[in-house]
Amino acid sequence: METVDFAALAPARHADAALILREALAHLPSAYNAPGEAEAEVAQRTADGDWLGHAALEGERLVGWIGAIRTYSHGWEIHPLVVAPSCQRRGIGSALLAALEARARGEGVLTLFLGSDDDYGGTILFGRNLWPDAVSHVAATEATARGHALTFYRRHGYEIIGLLPDVNGAGRPDILLAKRL
Ligand SMILES: CC(C)(COP(=O)(O)OP(=O)(O)OC[C@H]1O[C@@H](n2cnc3c(N)ncnc32)[C@H](O)[C@@H]1OP(=O)(O)O)[C@@H](O)C(=O)NCCC(=O)NCCS
Repeated sequence: METVDFAALAPARHADAALILREALAHLPSAYNAPGEAEAEVAQRTADGDWLGHAALEGERLVGWIGAIRTYSHGWEIHPLVVAPSCQRRGIGSALLAALEARARGEGVLTLFLGSDDDYGGTILFGRNLWPDAVSHVAATEATARGHALTFYRRHGYEIIGLLPDVNGAGRPDILLAKRL
């Protein structure tokens, strides 16, 4: 497996990237399920001069990709990170994250951050009223048996820096994570 700059991919491969986006997030209500939605997301990202990405290839096959938006002078937002379902838990997500972190460090970025929704019951926050004092729930936040990307990011040094209650509907928060590079 190798990681390459997303910009080096032939445009024809963008359809593969859209398919991975759709399939990797298929378990989420917020997934790119509507016809053309995943394709539009890839088109929008790649047309955005503030977006950059890396792709993971196994031979000719695209197996995952990561992107980031240059949101602040020294802070990038990771969006998205997806690995093809049949290729998960083989180190591809970790390799993509490492490639992005190296790129970010090289460009002087100090903080990487992201939002990771729980709109399906992947953490103990699901279904709860987090108001008032939403931040008080951060310390106890854990994944449930359904699993959540939170576990992956924590393993790579990201910590929860905030919660956005109810942004995907009542009891369905976004979990904000960040890492100091
Ligand atoms: C999250 C994701 C990018 C990780 O990529 P990956 O290639 O599967 O991850 P790696 O193989 O590098 O790392 C695996 C480790 O991450 C953690 N991990 C990965 N996916 C996990 C999941 N669904 N639930 C719990 N832990 C998970 C575990 O610690 C795992 O180690 P283990 O297999 O020894 O238990 C990938 O699973 C994915 O695309 N998921 C669906 C989309 C998604 O949730 N993206 C993130 C949105 S913010």
